[in-house]
Amino acid sequence: MKIIVFVVLTLFIANIQTAPIGGLYLPDDDVEILNGNNFKKFVENSTNAWTIEFYASWCGYCQRFAPSWKEFATEAASWRDIVRIGVVECSDEQNINLCRDFGITKYPTVRYFHENYHTGLNHSGVIVPHASVYSLEDNKKSAIETFIAEQYQGRGQIYPHLLPYGYPDLKDLFSNASQKAKFAFLVFEENSYLGGEVAMDLHRTSEIAVTYSLQNNTELINNLKVETFPSLYAVDRSNNAKIFTEGIKTRTELKETIGTFLKDKGIKLIEIVPSKLQNSSVDPDPNQRSRTILRQYVKKMGDVVFQRDLEAALRYSLQQEVSTIQLIKDEQLQALNAYVKVIKKYFPFGYNGSSLIDKLANLTSTSTEIEGPQIQLLVQKAEENREFSSPQRFIGCLGSSSRYRGYPCSLWRLFHFLTVNSLLYNVNNKKANPREVLDAMHGYVKNFFSCQHCSQHFQKMAAERNLGSVASLEESVFWLWEAHNVVNARLSGDETEDPEYPKEQFPTKLRCRECYGEDGSWIRSEVLKYLKRMYGNYNVRYIGSDTNVLFPGLD
Ligand SMILES: Cc1cc2nc3c(=O)[nH]c(=O)nc-3n(C[C@H](O)[C@H](O)[C@H](O)COP(=O)(O)OP(=O)(O)OC[C@H]3O[C@@H](n4cnc5c(N)ncnc54)[C@H](O)[C@@H]3O)c2cc1C
Ligand SMILES: *[C@@H]1O[C@H](CO)[C@@H](O)[C@H](O)[C@H]1NC(C)=O
Ligand SMILES: *[C@@H]1O[C@H](CO)[C@@H](O)[C@H](O)[C@H]1NC(C)=O
Ligand SMILES: *[C@@H]1O[C@H](CO)[C@@H](O)[C@H](O)[C@H]1NC(C)=O
Ligand SMILES: *[C@@H]1O[C@H](CO)[C@@H](O)[C@H](O)[C@H]1NC(C)=O
Ligand SMILES: *[C@@H]1O[C@H](CO)[C@@H](O)[C@H](O)[C@H]1NC(C)=O
Ligand SMILES: *[C@@H]1O[C@H](CO)[C@@H](O)[C@H](O)[C@H]1NC(C)=O
Ligand SMILES: *[C@@H]1O[C@H](CO)[C@@H](O)[C@H](O)[C@H]1NC(C)=O
Repeated sequence: MKIIVFVVLTLFIANIQTAPIGGLYLPDDDVEILNGNNFKKFVENSTNAWTIEFYASWCGYCQRFAPSWKEFATEAASWRDIVRIGVVECSDEQNINLCRDFGITKYPTVRYFHENYHTGLNHSGVIVPHASVYSLEDNKKSAIETFIAEQYQGRGQIYPHLLPYGYPDLKDLFSNASQKAKFAFLVFEENSYLGGEVAMDLHRTSEIAVTYSLQNNTELINNLKVETFPSLYAVDRSNNAKIFTEGIKTRTELKETIGTFLKDKGIKLIEIVPSKLQNSSVDPDPNQRSRTILRQYVKKMGDVVFQRDLEAALRYSLQQEVSTIQLIKDEQLQALNAYVKVIKKYFPFGYNGSSLIDKLANLTSTSTEIEGPQIQLLVQKAEENREFSSPQRFIGCLGSSSRYRGYPCSLWRLFHFLTVNSLLYNVNNKKANPREVLDAMHGYVKNFFSCQHCSQHFQKMAAERNLGSVASLEESVFWLWEAHNVVNARLSGDETEDPEYPKEQFPTKLRCRECYGEDGSWIRSEVLKYLKRMYGNYNVRYIGSDTNVLFPGLD
């Protein structure tokens, strides 16, 4: 019976993909889903510009960002002939090279690519800042500010004129309008981007020009005695002006007011929504069933660590984080060196495994700078030589969908594993550095962990919880355990929580009754025992991995 379960499981495991199916966006959304295969075709030498979000499905902040980015894409659908809104899922294996080429090191990252962009010219696009509180309005504001900045630099000619009107009277209103324009609309606004937005929306209506003036154009404001913001002036070629101060506060109201004004003049507002470039459909996840079976099986095993997850964490970190940095030097190089060193000492390598890390350790300890792609090459070589004992798939960190768990789960486990094994390994070594692993982790998270906000939170927590004062190897195990529980508490009930794996204080009562005192407080000695048992390298599970494993810590 056991053997049959094992064989069936092995078959399932062999087939399970971690490549996300669809990522955080679906073909029905108004974003264009770009990838390593279509990026060049669509973005290079394109007549329209692009604003593209680079993200990773596993990154909680990307999950929180996605709804507002979809809304923005919907609102910007009528701008598609000018600028398209795209997304690239960087944790998808097929996009690794694309994201590395663009030097995407933090998620989410929004980049703007101007019309006729091609590699060689400002290769990586322009960074579009985004606020940390995500909203449609923030996305729109950042995007429009980027378009305006483009025009200040002499690009963005396909956009309507978006620079503020800076003249003292209305005489120049038509000077940048099309020949066909019969009316110009001038929005006075304080510091909004209503005028720019509506100019974008109505860019197909050639009989009108929409522009705006800011509060610093005091001469014009004084000349016209403008007192209300926003106000709208409708002006014809003979300088006859009509002012509106009502019904223009929002984008929709403003367009309605303009539309009503134009109605009896025989001019219709034109707002066309060009179609998307592709209407691909998403294949339903063919592995859904086997994933579910595997998850249930793994869940029954309790709190255990898998070789496969540890290797997946290591490989992802090297391949999709470290090697995205063009030039690693100074603090980053030191951080990488410290990370590689603790891996070399405490990681349970597969049969052929330690050769990659030996080479890396040689490289990081002897160089003054390393090019990210060099590391990518080393990983590729290791892949060809079958130095990893597992394929790049999660097992204990497999989430109930591709957006859940995965990499960050495996990274936590990797660092818990390293703190525990440095304790076990150095049991008789009085000179061992108690913060060796924690410092390496801090350096890694600060310099390489691509979930930008996670990294910031972690650094803040390290300062607040005095990582620097950890004085023994046991304390270092406890420090990370406690820190992780703080994060668990913060994220409990969050929208990024996998419903199948609710965030609880670890270990749960169910798993470790002895860890809890009668009043519910922790019995720390039992917690330590539990952590040693779970993360001790003799307890690593090899389902889906080659079993010929070397334990550098046990020689
Ligand atoms: C350094 C770091 C900082 C992060 N910061 C943020 C953040 O600020 N915001 C955000 O949204 N996401 C953050 N994340 C991601 C988040 O913590 C989870 O990794 C992610 O939500 C996946 O959760 P999970 O359910 O797989 O469990 P995880 O929290 O990833 O835990 C993985 C596994 O570790 C074990 N474990 C859990 N708790 C403990 C513990 N206390 N001690 C020992 N082992 C434990 C369990 O077996 C669990 O399945 C961070 C991740 C990392 C690595
Ligand atoms: C884009 O144009 C440049 C310059 O004309 C050319 O070198 C490049 O091959 C073009 N790229 C694509 C994908 O057509
Ligand atoms: C490249 O970027 C610089 C600085 O952002 C800008 O001044 C320059 O005009 C850009 N060149 C091209 C061809 O896009
Ligand atoms: C017309 O465009 C040019 C170039 O962008 C700019 O310098 C000028 O101020 C614009 N005129 C008006 C009236 O907006
Ligand atoms: C008004 O402010 C805008 C945006 O800050 C700036 O670009 C413009 O040059 C200013 N105009 C004047 C007349 O100072
Ligand atoms: C995508 O689908 C929409 C609506 O069904 C259609 O109007 C559009 O032409 C399609 N575009 C392509 C590229 O097939
Ligand atoms: C690393 O460097 C040492 C000393 O220079 C050398 O003996 C060893 O062969 C190197 N290992 C690898 C994997 O390059
Ligand atoms: C180790 O590497 C050799 C040569 O590259 C390969 O033939 C062998 O299959 C590998 N062993 C394992 C267990 O992967």
